Amino acid sequence: MTKIYAHITGSGSYLPKRVLSNQELTRTVATSDEWIKERTGIAQRHIAADGETTSDLGVIAAQRAMKDAGLTGSDIDLIVVATSTPDYTFPSTATLIQERLGIRHGAAFDLQAVCSGFIYGLHVTEKLVRAGGVRHALLIGAETFSRILDWEDRTTCVLFGDGAGAFVLSASEDEGGVLSSFIRSDGQYRELLYVDGGPSKTQTVGHLRMIGNQVFKHAVTDIAAAMRQCANDANISIDDVDWFVPHQANQRILNGVAKKLKISPGKVISTVAEHANTSAASVPLAFDYAVKDGRIKRGDKVMVEAFGGGFTWGAAVFDF
Ligand code: UT7
Repeated sequence: MTKIYAHITGSGSYLPKRVLSNQELTRTVATSDEWIKERTGIAQRHIAADGETTSDLGVIAAQRAMKDAGLTGSDIDLIVVATSTPDYTFPSTATLIQERLGIRHGAAFDLQAVCSGFIYGLHVTEKLVRAGGVRHALLIGAETFSRILDWEDRTTCVLFGDGAGAFVLSASEDEGGVLSSFIRSDGQYRELLYVDGGPSKTQTVGHLRMIGNQVFKHAVTDIAAAMRQCANDANISIDDVDWFVPHQANQRILNGVAKKLKISPGKVISTVAEHANTSAASVPLAFDYAVKDGRIKRGDKVMVEAFGGGFTWGAAVFDF
């Protein structure tokens, strides 16, 4: 039987126009530009306009990724959207995006693994592409976390932003593409990072709650372990990787992981300062930025990773 590989053939991203600076936040909560920059590396974040939804952001990122891959809607057989901030409880944001893209065939569904959603999505989508029957898949990470933040809680509201990023994964008989992916979860830590509402429990959307310093410690250890496992599964060493595209939660987490794995900081893509934490959108957003500014090039070996609520975490490595 012919072996099929899943190649990343395009990427795209979109950020809402409105930029919210640290300085602006000091007018509403007891914080400072110095504290936010020193503890997180964040300087600003983008915030969706009134009425601008997760699917609105996702559609533009998807269109840009399809254009990048030289494809149109008729080529796309599968849409997977990683999000924790869907437009509606149902239908899925993926089916809303499918409709907006004018796609009338194939399948679309949402996947929820909070900040690790894009890595989970890559793991699942790659397997569906490799199984056959999908020519091209759109994998989108799109979030409007601004809608679930408690804007009076300085320990969380300064950390997040809105945005979307997308990959096109294409089936090919050429060896390469996604080399390995690894996902994990451990539900015992749910109270360290969660949203205190939901349709079944409270019939409300709820607000994000986090014990940040405890999440931080788990993040560094678990991300580093996932990256080692992922490299091991792909039969490569961490040194073989050209670029690392981490989930953009905190510059200190990026530095901590790089130090643990002896990775040169010059190989780590960081958009924390400009985008803050956009949850499932952060990895494809950062990747797309580094491709478009010419740092990540075709043929490079790229490792992506994330950690988030659940806890969930994981890593994937691919030849671009
Ligand atoms: O994407 C999902 C995964 N999420 C993460 O990975 C987030 C992980 N956690 C973090 O990034 C960091 O833990 C934070 C940035 C959230 C917090 O930084 P920290 O260095 O761990 O600070 P802390 O929580 O230990 O708080 C230190 C102090 C506290 O004051 P006291 O108790 O020492 O008096 C906080 O109340 O900083 C205070 N503080 C703030 N001060 C000014 C907390 N938030 C703020 C703020 N401005 N915005």
